[in-house]
Amino acid sequence: MGWRVKPLDDIMAAAENGSLKRSLGAFDLTMLGIGVVIGTGIFVLTSIAAEKAGPGMLFSFIIAGLVCFLTALIYAEIASMVPVSGSAYTYSYAVLGEWVAWMVGWALILEYAVAAGAVSVGWAGYINGFLNSNGWSLPLALTAGPADTVTLADGTAASGGFNLLAFLIALFITAMLLIGTTASARLTTVLVLVKITALTSFIVLAMPAVNMDNFVPLTPNGWGTPLSGIGVLGAAASIFFAFIGFDAVSTAAEETRNPDRNIPIGLIGSLGVCTVFYLLVAFAAVGAVGAQPGGVLSQSKEPLAFILRELGFGTMGNWVAAAAVLALPSVILMMMYGQTRILFSMSRDGLLPEVLSRVHPRLQTPHVVTLATGLAVSFFAAVFPVGMLADLTNSGTLFAFFMVGVGVMILRRREPNRRRPFRAPMIWVIGPLAVSGCAMLFISLGLYTIQLFIGWALIGIGVYWFYGRRHSVLARLIYEHKTP
Ligand code: ALA
Repeated sequence: MGWRVKPLDDIMAAAENGSLKRSLGAFDLTMLGIGVVIGTGIFVLTSIAAEKAGPGMLFSFIIAGLVCFLTALIYAEIASMVPVSGSAYTYSYAVLGEWVAWMVGWALILEYAVAAGAVSVGWAGYINGFLNSNGWSLPLALTAGPADTVTLADGTAASGGFNLLAFLIALFITAMLLIGTTASARLTTVLVLVKITALTSFIVLAMPAVNMDNFVPLTPNGWGTPLSGIGVLGAAASIFFAFIGFDAVSTAAEETRNPDRNIPIGLIGSLGVCTVFYLLVAFAAVGAVGAQPGGVLSQSKEPLAFILRELGFGTMGNWVAAAAVLALPSVILMMMYGQTRILFSMSRDGLLPEVLSRVHPRLQTPHVVTLATGLAVSFFAAVFPVGMLADLTNSGTLFAFFMVGVGVMILRRREPNRRRPFRAPMIWVIGPLAVSGCAMLFISLGLYTIQLFIGWALIGIGVYWFYGRRHSVLARLIYEHKTP
């Protein structure tokens, strides 16, 4: 049961006959990568990293970035070999068999849909801060979800009710996706420039205020122990969220011209650019205002704007907040875009209902799957706090990255002569390092997140058992082949 693989050649042939248009080039892909990667992670989760690790969060950024860089090399190899939509899901189908592919696809729902929810909440944090500083604040019941506990000015804790703006932005993005990909990709490019300008301004203004005393003590919560979710490794497991998204480049493979060359450029290029910015921003943030757990930075929902205001650059703080408000929607958009393409592939394979892979005759977008994704994302955004959504996203992503690493190594052994337009260098060093890095970050997430992940995986097993296993197109083909 479930170990059947989908031959790589069949996957490529199906993609050639697919209904998606090949229109994206290297520049579009790099922009798409940066567009997804720079978002709530750096703009919002910096405060959560400070709470978990203190100034040692700089190491957390380095560790998470390193794991992602190794994984990006591996993704570049497999995505250039199999340039079709579906990302880790499709690769696993070809190498590890159907049920593993299903579990990876199921975990990718955490990576994309839950992440889109997290970014929507991050966006709402910035716009609420912006409204607040201009005297138009909404009541707490409408600025945070019921599972979000906020510390009030008098020091007491209170829960929210329904995160209205996070909900609305997710719905708005759903509508944009329904209109079509081309317009969205262009918009992404403009918004990437806005984000880069905001981060550059932050670095330029905060760097001169760096005081090395703010780095002492460096690791107030230590390096962290498995399942504790704190310390440098706990923060690395959370801040990993900031790097997620480079792999979304590979989900657009089926819509890419000359994927052999363009996919590796898009993957590695976008990750490289983002990592440089992150390290500079994190260093400047810690050095300028300090990052001790329980300190002011760790309490803010809009930390970059907050730091600039603390440093006396109130207007620039508002501009950075405005840039985040303007640009974070592009992250939500690309995350939801990636999600719809993965679900589209899973439905085309019969593992999810066929209705999800319908393409709208006039708009040429997969409208059913887009609406379903959009409603789920809006719900997550309205109800859950950003840190919880981000950690859950990370659990699914680390699982998928781990599986892709394993799959690429198996494929090197099983099909050594297959054409590899991009070969990950020193695979027998990089591969094991990448998968053990993913495993290390996974167990550094808090116990609660890991329990949620296990719950999600169990539901996935149930869905496969009662639906996918019976409706799989591949299973039917094999059956028909055997019974003339
Ligand atoms: N890396 C993306 C972000 O930080 C998901 O928002």
